[in-house]
Amino acid sequence: MDGEERKEAVPLEKTVNVRVRRYDPATDTDSRYDTFEVPVVHGMSVLDALDFIYEHLDGTLSYYDHAACNQGICKRCLIQINGETGLMCQTRVEGDVTLDPLPRFDVVKDLVTARGGETRG
Ligand code: FES
Repeated sequence: MDGEERKEAVPLEKTVNVRVRRYDPATDTDSRYDTFEVPVVHGMSVLDALDFIYEHLDGTLSYYDHAACNQGICKRCLIQINGETGLMCQTRVEGDVTLDPLPRFDVVKDLVTARGGETRG
């Protein structure tokens, strides 16, 4: 194993704050942000960070899942990342990040909008 391979396997010694807009139209009157502290791993994508939150911190979080392509092709994982439209599967987490659902679509729950696709939560 060379140094490059070892670097990818070792978690970085830092955490980031992942701020996620939460809203369930069935129960909530307004949206809010929840902030989660997530340990950063080299090469971690926004989608990986959401998986960590779902699996370790809050299993009620809803977002498009890896059941889509995870290669930047299908575009099902489009959301707002720090105010810009981006793909969760292709955007690396390098610092604190704020996540919102795509604008101009009805929110089904949290980051899931009425556009179709596999979801989690
Ligand atoms: S999961 Fe297909 S583009 Fe991100």
